[in-house]
Amino acid sequence: MEFLASTALYNILRGPLVWLAFLVFIGGSSYKLYTLIDLAKKDKVIFPFISLKATLKSLFHWVIPFGSRNWRLRPVMTSVTFLFHICLVFTPIFLLSHNILWHESWGISWWSLPENIADIMTLIVIFTCIFFFLRRILIPEVKFVTFSSDYILLAISFLPFLTGFFAYHQWVLPHKAMVNLHILFGEVMLIAIPFTRLGHMFYFFLTRSWMGSNFAMWHTRDW
Ligand code: HEM
Ligand code: HEM
Repeated sequence: MEFLASTALYNILRGPLVWLAFLVFIGGSSYKLYTLIDLAKKDKVIFPFISLKATLKSLFHWVIPFGSRNWRLRPVMTSVTFLFHICLVFTPIFLLSHNILWHESWGISWWSLPENIADIMTLIVIFTCIFFFLRRILIPEVKFVTFSSDYILLAISFLPFLTGFFAYHQWVLPHKAMVNLHILFGEVMLIAIPFTRLGHMFYFFLTRSWMGSNFAMWHTRDW
């Protein structure tokens, strides 16, 4: 516990490890995207088949909640997925505590969410993760297609929010220990993104492009 709360650990986490995390996140994700597009180029079928119009149409319907037939078929899951992703992506970017760190390190800052709204968005991520977990263990057909990696990826998404929330409210562990734990989990998440399915945040539009082009070919209005 003493080491977890130590300034020495804080300096490592806020120094070299934060650099490593952002370099791996940005470099790794760009490399992954490049190799995926390169692989698709080498396949003689994919590129000639892709339609830009179908891609944009599919993306447009899909990024709007209930905008595609598949979203409308599963209203609860659709609402939870949208809430989860909106809060997951926007909270860390527009969090006041994070903005202060950017300002201290680089002198840059941007608009911040009011603190009580950020707190609610953090709770939304925490509870929607619990929903995803329960869905995976309680619904037989979901359980059947769930692997341990699904739980690990869910935990990687969940822990930065849980520890961020506890650190902000100074609950559970001494504040310094919780902040260190939070930064560690935040860095684990950033590093995991290029190497795991969490990378879907960057390549989802490729999947949409492929599916949209397929739907267009069969004249379905499924997007
Ligand atoms: C480089 C990594 C990171 C650093 C240095 C960092 C640092 C911090 C700090 C200092 C706090 C405030 C704690 C307090 O007020 O005592 C905080 C809170 C928080 N962080 Fe991070 N963080 C990092 C990564 C992340 C990531 C990747 C996420 C999520 C994707 C995240 C989500 C949060 C949330 C949700 C809160 C608390 C919100 C609230 O309830 O007010 N952080 N972070
Ligand atoms: C910003 C662009 C993103 C898009 C468009 C996106 C899209 C999606 C979609 C469509 C699903 C499937 C939901 C379903 O089954 O109905 C999903 C699931 C998931 N996403 Fe994302 N995502 C994004 C970013 C992220 C990020 C940054 C993370 C975390 C680092 C993340 C973590 C997850 C997790 C953990 C699941 C699975 C939840 C479960 O256990 O069922 N996503 N995402």
